[in-house]
Amino acid sequence: MPFTSLRPKIKTILANENDEIDSRLTEVCELLQTNIGYYDWVGFYFANEAEKTLHLRAFAGEPTDHTVIPFGKGICGQVAISNSNFVVPDVSAQNNYIACSINVRSEIVVPLFKDEKNIGQIDIDSHIADPFSVEDERFLEWVNEEVAKIL
Ligand code: SME
Repeated sequence: MPFTSLRPKIKTILANENDEIDSRLTEVCELLQTNIGYYDWVGFYFANEAEKTLHLRAFAGEPTDHTVIPFGKGICGQVAISNSNFVVPDVSAQNNYIACSINVRSEIVVPLFKDEKNIGQIDIDSHIADPFSVEDERFLEWVNEEVAKIL
Protein backbone atom coordinates (compact mmCIF):
# COMPACT_ATOMS: atom_id res chain seq x y z
CA MET A 1 0.00 0.00 0.00
CA PRO A 2 1.52 3.35 -0.95
CA PHE A 3 2.32 5.95 1.67
CA THR A 4 -0.46 8.28 0.42
CA SER A 5 -3.19 5.76 1.21
CA LEU A 6 -1.68 4.99 4.64
CA ARG A 7 -1.75 8.61 5.78
CA PRO A 8 -5.54 8.90 6.31
CA LYS A 9 -5.55 5.51 8.07
CA ILE A 10 -2.86 6.69 10.47
CA LYS A 11 -4.80 9.88 11.18
CA THR A 12 -7.91 7.83 11.94
CA ILE A 13 -6.05 5.49 14.31
CA LEU A 14 -4.39 8.35 16.19
CA ALA A 15 -7.65 10.31 16.49
CA ASN A 16 -9.45 7.42 18.22
CA GLU A 17 -9.68 8.69 21.78
CA ASN A 18 -11.55 5.55 22.87
CA ASP A 19 -8.22 3.70 22.73
CA GLU A 20 -5.29 4.28 25.06
CA ILE A 21 -2.36 6.06 23.43
CA ASP A 22 -0.19 2.93 23.65
CA SER A 23 -2.88 0.93 21.80
CA ARG A 24 -3.02 3.56 19.07
CA LEU A 25 0.76 3.48 18.73
CA THR A 26 0.65 -0.32 18.46
CA GLU A 27 -2.04 -0.07 15.76
CA VAL A 28 0.14 2.33 13.78
CA CYS A 29 3.06 -0.12 14.05
CA GLU A 30 0.82 -2.98 12.90
CA LEU A 31 -0.56 -0.95 9.98
CA LEU A 32 2.93 -0.11 8.72
CA GLN A 33 4.36 -3.59 9.32
CA THR A 34 1.43 -5.26 7.57
CA ASN A 35 1.16 -2.95 4.57
CA ILE A 36 4.74 -2.12 3.67
CA GLY A 37 6.46 -5.29 2.52
CA TYR A 38 9.98 -4.36 3.55
CA TYR A 39 8.94 -3.09 7.05
CA ASP A 40 9.53 -6.32 8.99
CA TRP A 41 9.67 -4.78 12.47
CA VAL A 42 8.25 -1.40 13.48
CA GLY A 43 8.55 0.12 16.94
CA PHE A 44 8.37 3.35 18.93
CA TYR A 45 10.99 4.02 21.59
CA PHE A 46 10.67 6.96 24.00
CA ALA A 47 13.39 8.63 26.04
CA ASN A 48 13.81 8.73 29.79
CA GLU A 49 15.95 11.86 29.99
CA ALA A 50 16.93 11.35 33.64
CA GLU A 51 18.18 7.82 33.04
CA LYS A 52 19.51 8.54 29.51
CA THR A 53 17.71 5.48 28.18
CA LEU A 54 15.20 4.67 25.44
CA HIS A 55 12.20 2.48 26.28
CA LEU A 56 10.16 0.44 23.82
CA ARG A 57 6.52 1.55 24.10
CA ALA A 58 4.83 -0.09 21.09
CA PHE A 59 5.88 -2.43 18.30
CA ALA A 60 4.78 -4.89 15.60
CA GLY A 61 6.87 -7.87 14.52
CA GLU A 62 8.93 -10.35 16.51
CA PRO A 63 9.34 -9.51 20.22
CA THR A 64 12.77 -8.07 20.99
CA ASP A 65 15.01 -8.36 24.07
CA HIS A 66 16.09 -4.75 23.49
CA THR A 67 13.27 -2.96 25.28
CA VAL A 68 15.68 -0.57 27.03
CA ILE A 69 18.58 1.00 25.11
CA PRO A 70 21.10 3.44 26.65
CA PHE A 71 21.63 6.74 24.81
CA GLY A 72 24.60 6.31 22.45
CA LYS A 73 24.22 2.54 22.04
CA GLY A 74 23.17 1.08 18.71
CA ILE A 75 21.46 2.96 15.92
CA CYS A 76 18.58 3.96 18.21
CA GLY A 77 20.85 5.25 20.97
CA GLN A 78 22.87 7.30 18.49
CA VAL A 79 19.68 8.97 17.17
CA ALA A 80 18.70 9.87 20.74
CA ILE A 81 21.82 12.05 20.77
CA SER A 82 22.15 13.17 17.13
CA ASN A 83 18.52 14.30 16.62
CA SER A 84 18.92 13.20 12.98
CA ASN A 85 17.51 10.44 10.82
CA PHE A 86 19.80 7.40 10.59
CA VAL A 87 19.40 5.23 7.49
CA VAL A 88 21.43 2.01 7.55
CA PRO A 89 21.44 0.25 4.16
CA ASP A 90 23.58 -2.62 5.50
CA VAL A 91 23.62 -3.30 9.25
CA SER A 92 26.71 -5.53 8.92
CA ALA A 93 28.73 -2.42 8.05
CA GLN A 94 27.88 -0.76 11.41
CA ASN A 95 30.06 -1.30 14.47
CA ASN A 96 27.72 0.48 16.90
CA TYR A 97 24.70 -1.67 16.18
CA ILE A 98 22.42 -3.80 18.39
CA ALA A 99 21.23 -6.91 16.53
CA CYS A 100 17.60 -7.81 17.27
CA SER A 101 17.39 -10.68 14.77
CA ILE A 102 19.85 -12.40 12.47
CA ASN A 103 17.38 -11.79 9.63
CA VAL A 104 17.70 -8.01 9.77
CA ARG A 105 19.71 -6.53 6.89
CA SER A 106 18.86 -2.84 7.12
CA GLU A 107 17.30 -0.29 9.45
CA ILE A 108 15.94 3.26 9.58
CA VAL A 109 15.48 5.33 12.72
CA VAL A 110 13.72 8.72 12.63
CA PRO A 111 13.57 10.95 15.72
CA LEU A 112 10.22 12.10 17.09
CA PHE A 113 10.04 15.72 18.20
CA LYS A 114 7.55 17.27 20.62
CA ASP A 115 7.88 21.04 21.03
CA GLU A 116 11.18 20.80 19.13
CA LYS A 117 12.61 18.30 21.64
CA ASN A 118 13.74 14.83 20.60
CA ILE A 119 11.56 12.66 22.87
CA GLY A 120 11.67 9.35 21.03
CA GLN A 121 11.86 7.69 17.67
CA ILE A 122 10.33 5.30 15.19
CA ASP A 123 12.55 2.34 14.33
CA ILE A 124 12.06 0.08 11.30
CA ASP A 125 14.01 -3.11 10.64
CA SER A 126 13.99 -4.77 7.22
CA HIS A 127 15.03 -8.21 6.05
CA ILE A 128 15.88 -6.65 2.69
CA ALA A 129 19.18 -4.85 2.00
CA ASP A 130 19.05 -1.12 1.23
CA PRO A 131 15.27 -0.68 0.82
CA PHE A 132 14.85 2.78 2.38
CA SER A 133 14.66 5.98 0.34
CA VAL A 134 14.03 9.64 1.08
CA GLU A 135 10.34 8.81 0.57
CA ASP A 136 10.51 6.62 3.69
CA GLU A 137 12.25 9.39 5.60
CA ARG A 138 9.60 12.01 4.67
CA PHE A 139 6.78 9.57 5.42
CA LEU A 140 8.18 8.53 8.81
CA GLU A 141 8.84 12.18 9.74
CA TRP A 142 5.17 12.85 8.99
CA VAL A 143 4.08 9.82 11.08
CA ASN A 144 6.11 11.13 14.01
CA GLU A 145 4.61 14.62 13.65
CA GLU A 146 1.13 13.10 13.79
CA VAL A 147 2.05 11.00 16.85
CA ALA A 148 3.52 14.06 18.60
CA LYS A 149 0.13 15.78 18.33
CA ILE A 150 -1.51 13.20 20.64
CA LEU A 151 1.29 13.08 23.24
N1 SME B 1 18.94 -2.35 15.96
C1 SME B 1 18.63 -1.35 16.94
C2 SME B 1 18.08 -1.94 18.21
C3 SME B 1 16.62 -2.05 18.23
S1 SME B 1 16.05 -3.35 17.34
O1 SME B 1 16.27 -3.02 15.89
C4 SME B 1 14.45 -3.62 17.59
C5 SME B 1 19.85 -0.52 17.25
O2 SME B 1 20.94 -0.84 16.78
O3 SME B 1 19.71 0.46 17.98
